[in-house]
Amino acid sequence: MIKPFGKNTKDIYNQNASSWVRTKPNSLSDFTGRPKILDLCGDIKNLKVLDLGCGEGYGSRALIHRGAASVEGIDISQKMINLAKEKEKEKLSNINYQVCDIKKLPFKNNTFDIVLGLFVFNYLYVDETLISMKEIYRVLKNKGKFVFGVPHPSFPQIKQNDDEPFFFDFETRGYFSSRDKKFEGFICCRDGKKLPVQMIHKLIEDYFYCLKESGFKSLPEIKELGVLKEHLDLKREFFEPVNDIPLHLAIAINK
Ligand SMILES: C[S@@+](CC[C@H](N)C(=O)[O-])C[C@H]1O[C@@H](n2cnc3c(N)ncnc32)[C@H](O)[C@@H]1O
Repeated sequence: MIKPFGKNTKDIYNQNASSWVRTKPNSLSDFTGRPKILDLCGDIKNLKVLDLGCGEGYGSRALIHRGAASVEGIDISQKMINLAKEKEKEKLSNINYQVCDIKKLPFKNNTFDIVLGLFVFNYLYVDETLISMKEIYRVLKNKGKFVFGVPHPSFPQIKQNDDEPFFFDFETRGYFSSRDKKFEGFICCRDGKKLPVQMIHKLIEDYFYCLKESGFKSLPEIKELGVLKEHLDLKREFFEPVNDIPLHLAIAINK
């Protein structure tokens, strides 16, 4: 079992920022999660996008490559934002990064066509998720789309082996009793790195409660993501231990 980091999220990301830097897929979820979550954004050509918890900008850069007109990337970690800015210093693309918390968005009402959250809501408690989603609803344009992905809430109940590429140290397998509690974990990379991550466990219904209470009323699109044949064909020994298991939950919903 891994030791608790005993630090807040901001410290963890400030301390490990450089390990997150990558120009091509590296961590497990770069293969099994991010591409499919980005696909849920649909055609983003010429659209204005907000990337919540952008980290060192991997998702923001992917959004520009997919045709977004502009991306605002925000993150609570100063180190992550410094690294993201470093990559964009030649200002070849229209990305702007700033340090801020996703619970208070420094943008006017109805600003963005798309708001994306790649593995950031697993760092928020239920009441914080509600605050943030209300903000997201406010800054989204009418009919704009909110897309996010998190570790699948069922994953830690199904898999509890710390010698595998994705792991959360759940004390019990309690799906309900673990609600709104923070767990430490890690995700492995193909280059051998282990990235520390956290998960504030929420039930699937918590996400839908927060979306509804924030004002979202349309029917969401949901994807439960895991290892695909293409991953096994690429590097079977890396992906096989978590094959046939729900790794990530992705949700897209229109304002
Ligand atoms: C797992 S990393 C994902 C980074 C990036 N989205 C990606 O896909 O590579 C989670 C990021 O969320 C940020 N984060 C966590 N809580 C946050 C909050 N309340 N507001 C803004 N960023 C936050 C962390 O600093 C970290 O950079």
